[in-house]
Amino acid sequence: MTRELLTNIGQLVTNASAGDAAAGDAATGIDRLGIISDAAVLIDDGRIAWVGQATDAPAVSPAETVTGAQGRCVIPGFVDSHSHIVFGGDRAAEFEARMSGQKYSAGGIRSTVAATRTASDDDLRARTSGLLAEMLAQGTTTVEIKSGYGLTVADEARLVRLAVEVTEEVTFLGAHVIPAEFADRPDDYVDLVVGEMLDACAPEAKWIDVFCETGAFTVEQSRRILSAGAARGLGVRVHASQLGPGDGVRLAVELGAASVDHCTFLTDEDVAVLAGSTTVATLLPGVEFSTRQPYPDARRLLDAGVTVAIASDCNPGSSFTSSMPFCIAVAVRDMGMAPAEALWSATAGGAAALRRDDIGRIEPGAKADLVQLTADSYVHLAYRPGVPLVERVWKNGVLARREDEIRS
Ligand code: NIG
Ligand code: FE
Repeated sequence: MTRELLTNIGQLVTNASAGDAAAGDAATGIDRLGIISDAAVLIDDGRIAWVGQATDAPAVSPAETVTGAQGRCVIPGFVDSHSHIVFGGDRAAEFEARMSGQKYSAGGIRSTVAATRTASDDDLRARTSGLLAEMLAQGTTTVEIKSGYGLTVADEARLVRLAVEVTEEVTFLGAHVIPAEFADRPDDYVDLVVGEMLDACAPEAKWIDVFCETGAFTVEQSRRILSAGAARGLGVRVHASQLGPGDGVRLAVELGAASVDHCTFLTDEDVAVLAGSTTVATLLPGVEFSTRQPYPDARRLLDAGVTVAIASDCNPGSSFTSSMPFCIAVAVRDMGMAPAEALWSATAGGAAALRRDDIGRIEPGAKADLVQLTADSYVHLAYRPGVPLVERVWKNGVLARREDEIRS
């Protein structure tokens, strides 16, 4: 049994309802953070065993570790509930052209598909490992990873397998785009996805996702694919309303999806349907930043009572950032979120999008995934954009070393 008492925490963000009563302020979202000042946390065998004021902390034996947090802010590890980090090549040239005036289109995915198909397993592992290390250094302790750059039965199965090596949150995204060789017969590709490809990927994946968008999959094709995945026991997630309004959000809610992601172009009906559902709206600030699109309106969703998550969507095309603090800063600056709301969405919101209650919060029983900031307040995550504010990260109760990666 390995116990560690983390004490002298100036500000502890628990995301639990039982924080300092005085800290509650619904207008700024602070009441959601369950803040405890002058706090301590007891970690026991990878889990949180106790949380409270440092003065009330349980006694630990001399053989156990006591770590001082130097009065700093400690938050739950970020839950990045949307990424595509198993891929070959990059698309820096496409990004440069876009920043010189070209528009983003779903078709760019095909160039990463070509580079991924020719990469070896070890090439792909090396790329994924590098990104996981970046993520951990920036405070991400759980990451969801999608396939979707293989688009053959063998390559999709390979990407799912490589993702399973590093995370339990693996999503089969065979329906990312129609691959070039099926351009004239998209429904034949859908047949393949719901047939042989699903047979190969469903046993290892946890989720199924579809890019439901003009230029990718229609709502009818998406319904067919997602329903086939659900029938095989996969949870449903959807990419929708990224490039324009569409029927994807309503489809996601109809199918009881855990999350519908992007949500950049929502109709009033979409917002109302989401508000009446258990589907989380996952917003991806890096995408609009990197494609020069208008940002999604988080305020409109929050005011309607929708549960909002923030994720990186780390991928080589639309959002090549691995940084959740960056996403928080953008969400606060440009999407109408208060700093507390953005932090909640990047931790507890991500956990909700993955239907997990053991991560995204610092409460007894939860996994001991914690981040100590260099600052004494979480507000700095948005207030000091681009600054490396993550001082220490515990994953499953173990203090990460610089060279570590996330593996959950
Ligand atoms: O989430 N929207 C679809 N898929 C990715 C983009 C992938 C790419 O451009 O390679 C996304 O933005
Ligand atoms: Fe995505």
